[in-house]
Amino acid sequence: MSTTVETISAAARTAPAAVIVAIDGPSGTGKSSTSKAVAAHLGLSYLDTGAQYRAITWWMLNNGIDVHDAAEVATAVDKPVIVSGTDPTAPTITVDGEDAAGPIRTQEVTSKVSAVSAVPEVRARITELQRSIAASAESGIVVEGRDIGTTVLPDADLKVFLTASPEARAARRSGEIKGSDLASTKEALVKRDAADSSRKTSPLAKADDAVEVDTTELSLQQVIECVVTLVEEKRAAK
Ligand code: DC
Repeated sequence: MSTTVETISAAARTAPAAVIVAIDGPSGTGKSSTSKAVAAHLGLSYLDTGAQYRAITWWMLNNGIDVHDAAEVATAVDKPVIVSGTDPTAPTITVDGEDAAGPIRTQEVTSKVSAVSAVPEVRARITELQRSIAASAESGIVVEGRDIGTTVLPDADLKVFLTASPEARAARRSGEIKGSDLASTKEALVKRDAADSSRKTSPLAKADDAVEVDTTELSLQQVIECVVTLVEEKRAAK
């Protein structure tokens, strides 16, 4: 009995406290690359919430739902089974058991996801899913999105809001998309950010207590190091 108690208290002394990290910001700021690298470096789980909104959008498109009809979207919201794998070195997403990682990145889904994710019933369902995943991450988790610090996990230990100039963001995105041109990438990105920031329910926004990091002039490595340091400081203070 005493051995068990001693073992548990020794583990409690040495294991770092679970830490919840929210990383928000518009597209092209390096959220995904930073979040995955920080989580992998610190042994935390990782959740890409944009992938979940893309997954539900993909399901709606595949199932003949008019994504611009909020009432139709709302009635179908509970149907797809969306499962996110939270290993930062190999994150996964399935919809009804089917691997959706590739199809959710198409232009078709990208151009429709803001409409679907503005529907309050969609946000309620996905938010609940995100909270349950964060609650079950034993060592802690890095959750990236648009409303994580403001709505999904307002009690997160650390909130980071990444920004960058529209030019830098468009340049990064067009480097990722084969055959895309800079001007049209910038236009699409600015349009999507405007839609995400102006929706009524849980828009893209910086939480009052978030640390803002402008990544325009920073390398990915510098952003990762900055966020790792911020997490380590929070973890040490817990
Ligand atoms: O991060 P991403 O580009 O894969 O996100 C796709 C869309 O999902 C984004 O345009 C808005 C929506 N989204 C959201 O509304 N809330 C989140 N927490 C994450 C993404």
